[in-house]
Amino acid sequence: MAQLLTGHLLRFVADPFTAPIKAAVVHDTHGAIRIEDGRIAAAGPVDTVDRTDAEHIDLGDRLLIPGFVDAHMHYPQTGIIAAWGKRLIDWLNTYTFPEEMRFGDPTYARKQADLTLDLALAHGTTTLTSFCTIHPASVDAWFEAAAARNMATVAGKTCMDRNAPDGLRDTPQSAYDDSAALLAKWHGTGRARYAITPRFTPTSTPDQLEALGALWAANPSCAMQTHLSEQRDEIAWVRDLHPEASDYLQTYEQHGLIGPGALFGHAIHLEPRERDLLRETGSAVVHCPTSNTFIGSGLFDAARTITDGITTGLATDTGGGSSFSMLRTMAAAYEIGQLSGTALHPAQLLWLATEGSARALRMQDRTGTLAPGSDADIIALDLSSTPAIAQRSGRAENIWEAIFPTIMMGDDRAIADVWVAGERVARTPEGN
Ligand code: GUN
Ligand code: ZN
Repeated sequence: MAQLLTGHLLRFVADPFTAPIKAAVVHDTHGAIRIEDGRIAAAGPVDTVDRTDAEHIDLGDRLLIPGFVDAHMHYPQTGIIAAWGKRLIDWLNTYTFPEEMRFGDPTYARKQADLTLDLALAHGTTTLTSFCTIHPASVDAWFEAAAARNMATVAGKTCMDRNAPDGLRDTPQSAYDDSAALLAKWHGTGRARYAITPRFTPTSTPDQLEALGALWAANPSCAMQTHLSEQRDEIAWVRDLHPEASDYLQTYEQHGLIGPGALFGHAIHLEPRERDLLRETGSAVVHCPTSNTFIGSGLFDAARTITDGITTGLATDTGGGSSFSMLRTMAAAYEIGQLSGTALHPAQLLWLATEGSARALRMQDRTGTLAPGSDADIIALDLSSTPAIAQRSGRAENIWEAIFPTIMMGDDRAIADVWVAGERVARTPEGN
């Protein structure tokens, strides 16, 4: 049966980084969304939306927006989130690699996949983009857990054939073969999308990058995800490993690992040539603000990057990131914007967390928007979810003043309801 959700609606009709905010966003104070067969059939002012033969769910004062889209995270790191005191390379060796070693066990991998997806849903995130581990079982576990929830996810086997401990290295050939088999099994199955996933240049030999570049060339509808220029020490390491390369990005470029569908996590410390190349090739970068402060990586200049014409998504980067919440992630992006000299508008933050990330993933036709035809991944925000937020939003004189306290101070308590492909899901993670 069709569903009709009524409440406040916020719909983007243009990109708020290029169009004026007033022209980019529509706020329907008496809005409705009609859901049919898991998809959005219509969204707009309530009197324009067909209500025949539909179950009516009234959300009252709640604000209906697309579910959040997390464009870069690591589900195997859920168990080590908030690990103290290390910067990137030491953090990987001390906390991350020992935990990732455990994902050869399919039972453990499935448990962590279930846990992560339920935490994400409780925080209003309906689409996730995850690195797995080198173990094919970790990829199966993730996609099986996502399929059980009918969630759209993008993920792939993390490939590493150097500078990683015993038990956590593959080879160029096995990385190719395993990725090819997983891609054939999962890419386009239900809502699953495969991402070819070399972890980063320090842990992949040129032979491995070459093999994965060939695999991507043969399967261009897949995504390709990796890390780029996150910390200065990492960049210096890449320079030592590849003195012949003009810059870090060239170590991917020379193996065909660049172009539409490429997702470069972090990309904080870029050279002018790298910026030009990212724009010209239609590659995307992913801003991971809570991670960038937590691991001490630096200040990503989102406004400049977007103005330069580089496709940009937003992400938690858990467990290097310190929160599962895209609200907290928007707050961190706002704070870093302030430190970089640009106050990002709440509309821009919300766009980055939904349609912007979906565009980076090349999935904006099906997720991250309320446009008709899109899958019905929707959340209802409570803009008064705590006393501290309520006392501030109660004074709001416009929609942006009403939303901004939730962006800056909100968490999973602000997520009143979640729909995944038209199915209303329980808000609380299992077991809590
Ligand atoms: N660079 C290479 N691997 C990782 C990772 O797991 N997390 C982060 N934040 N950066 C990385
Ligand atoms: Zn990452």
